[in-house]
Amino acid sequence: MSIWPKLRYHPVQSALWQCRKQHIIALAGRQSGKTKGICIPKLVLAALCKQTQPIDNRNYLYVGPTRLQAKGIAWDYIKSLIPKKAITKISETELQINLWNGSKIMIMSGEARERIDGRGYLGVIIDECSDQPPGVFEENVDPALTATKGWCIRIGIPKRSGPSGSSFRKACDEYQSNPEKGYFHWTTASLWGEEYVDKRRSVLSERDFREQFEASWVNSTGVIADAFDEVQNVMDYYEIQPDLPIVVGSDFNRSPLCFELCQIKDDQLFVFDEIRLNEASTADALDILYKTYGHHNEFHFYGDASSKNQHTSASESDYMQIKNDRRFNSLVFYPNSNPRLSNRFAAANRLLKDANGKVRCRIHTRCKGLLEDLRSYSYIEGTNQPDQRNKQLSHSFDAWSYIISYKWPMRFEMDPDYTPTISFGSGGMM
Ligand SMILES: Nc1ncnc2c1ncn2[C@@H]1O[C@H](COP(=O)(O)OP(=O)(O)O)[C@@H](O)[C@H]1O
Ligand SMILES: [Mg+2]
Repeated sequence: MSIWPKLRYHPVQSALWQCRKQHIIALAGRQSGKTKGICIPKLVLAALCKQTQPIDNRNYLYVGPTRLQAKGIAWDYIKSLIPKKAITKISETELQINLWNGSKIMIMSGEARERIDGRGYLGVIIDECSDQPPGVFEENVDPALTATKGWCIRIGIPKRSGPSGSSFRKACDEYQSNPEKGYFHWTTASLWGEEYVDKRRSVLSERDFREQFEASWVNSTGVIADAFDEVQNVMDYYEIQPDLPIVVGSDFNRSPLCFELCQIKDDQLFVFDEIRLNEASTADALDILYKTYGHHNEFHFYGDASSKNQHTSASESDYMQIKNDRRFNSLVFYPNSNPRLSNRFAAANRLLKDANGKVRCRIHTRCKGLLEDLRSYSYIEGTNQPDQRNKQLSHSFDAWSYIISYKWPMRFEMDPDYTPTISFGSGGMM
């Protein structure tokens, strides 16, 4: 049995559902019903309908940024929408479903975008457009629609630092001003209400919140720590709390090798000192830490993931060295695998200042390396790649933000307890 979502009425979703234009963009907030709410059901329904095009053209395609993401988002969901009787063949390795009417529904990814080439499509969804590798629509999908006159919906949230953020923004501007194209924009609050969205203000920085829930384009400042505030995030006095551990964020780069020294109090991170050494070893940094703060009761060390396939064995030996140093009463924390860089950056910005205006990180003026990174460490223009040409930058930032992504990770599940405040429609599609 196939199960179709019961949707509450939303005017923009409804207009998108009914739109018959060939080129469409849906720019809307996170969890606002772009993918599962409207576009995948639209694709599946089109594939299930009576087909008039030559059999070779009856292809319907969903494209996620990576195979893992595409499969995770769409595969089980698409299968759940199709009545079993309509399926003639399913390939779990190819991620393809053949239907009784000759339609094929395929799942592919931007990371292997050349697989898209070589056939025509009647309907395509490109999801998470800001996160797609550049050129998926222009070079792979669009040429594959010429002969079939197939349609394509490009879905996304605005992301100033996404790999295709700026080109998706240009496409949005173009579609919005061209009446032949479909352009649909709505916020998360317009579907789930202000209260639902307000609860998520503490989850993101102001700028990330405006992008992800309000679906507004935010101009990139280029700086990674764009929530950093010279006044609110900087302190010139801090009294070390003897009963709280000293939390050490570490980056085992050799020049500079960085330890950021912090305490966590009332859910806030206070960075009160740092150790930055050139041409140095972990042992050298531990000696300095011992000289300055050796009298302190307890130390918690955080850092980069360290596992044989994820990282160099050098950081494993660094962690061993810390664990084996009997001068410190210490605990060592490091994740099994690293979170996505963009998630670590978002978590760091959210702690600097969340969308409620709450500041949860303060940095002492003596932490010159970290402050320099917060002011200067930037993206390569027009990309989401950090610019690492200046070898002095980024290491203090990394040391500091490893603590944050471990203690305050980004989480984006839909709130399972959330019960909508307005009533559902009669069910099925609008
Ligand atoms: N109009 C709606 N009414 C009720 N639930 C909806 C509606 N639109 C979407 N949903 C549900 O909200 C969740 C998020 O939708 P999804 O389309 O995945 O969001 P997005 O792609 O915008 O992040 C899904 O479980 C979906 O079924
Ligand atoms: Mg989605």
